[in-house]
Amino acid sequence: MSSDRTDDVEQLRATAVAVAQQVGDLVVRMRLAGPGQVQTKTSATDVVTAADTAAERLARRLLAQWRPGEPVLGEEEGGEAAAGRLCWVVDPIDGTVNYLYGLPWYGVSVAVQRDGQSLAAAVAQPAAGRLWSAARGSGAHCDGVALRVSGATQLELSLIGVGFSYRAERRARQAAMVAGMLPKIRDLRRAGSAALDLCSVASGWLDGFAEHGLHRWDWAAGALIAAEAGAVVRLPPRGSDFLLAATPGIVDGLAELMTQCGADSV
Ligand code: IPD
Repeated sequence: MSSDRTDDVEQLRATAVAVAQQVGDLVVRMRLAGPGQVQTKTSATDVVTAADTAAERLARRLLAQWRPGEPVLGEEEGGEAAAGRLCWVVDPIDGTVNYLYGLPWYGVSVAVQRDGQSLAAAVAQPAAGRLWSAARGSGAHCDGVALRVSGATQLELSLIGVGFSYRAERRARQAAMVAGMLPKIRDLRRAGSAALDLCSVASGWLDGFAEHGLHRWDWAAGALIAAEAGAVVRLPPRGSDFLLAATPGIVDGLAELMTQCGADSV
């Protein structure tokens, strides 16, 4: 991997892919050896494993080598973007609870943004050997196959992904909201990794996905992949943490249904 400083999006995508793959290999190897030491963060159910920490350290090491001097924002160590500059946004294991239990639905999410806009991205699902990637304006792919969102047009026949907060009181409000949504759609899925949920929208495996409480590292890669596959993506506006991504035929209906079901007070 060259350390050329260009921000050609295809080159950025190649870097994101290489980082996601190498970090993915590490987390799978560490999982085989057991999850190791587990600590908690915002609540007793919000965990961080030794693999999360080691994986972010590896991502930072690779990026320092291949993209020297460019800042990194990561779930475990934080970091800050600077105006007008590229910033790498890394979730070393998205779906940490799944990882902890040995459930293979977890991802490594790597994006590069400028001024909050994702330019290139990769999400690896290392337990399945799957890799999604996208470059702004160049489409989204999974393992070399170009992606297109589903053609759903009827909300009542749509499969919608959701996610829940680690905080009990917010989770109770989210539960009330989804209880209202459930009779109006085909069904809900709560798979446990926002990055993979967004890739699922890109792949047509879900017709839409929405979650309150996401952090930039949860969505920076998946949102670009979904958008490049044709999804309408509404990123969290300033002061909010609500993200919605859906195939164009249902996005307005889904947003309206969620508002009717209390999305504004979640
Ligand atoms: C979590 C997952 C989960 C979502 C949470 C995220 P983490 O990320 O994406 O699906 O519901 O909001 O925090 O903690 O596993 O990296």
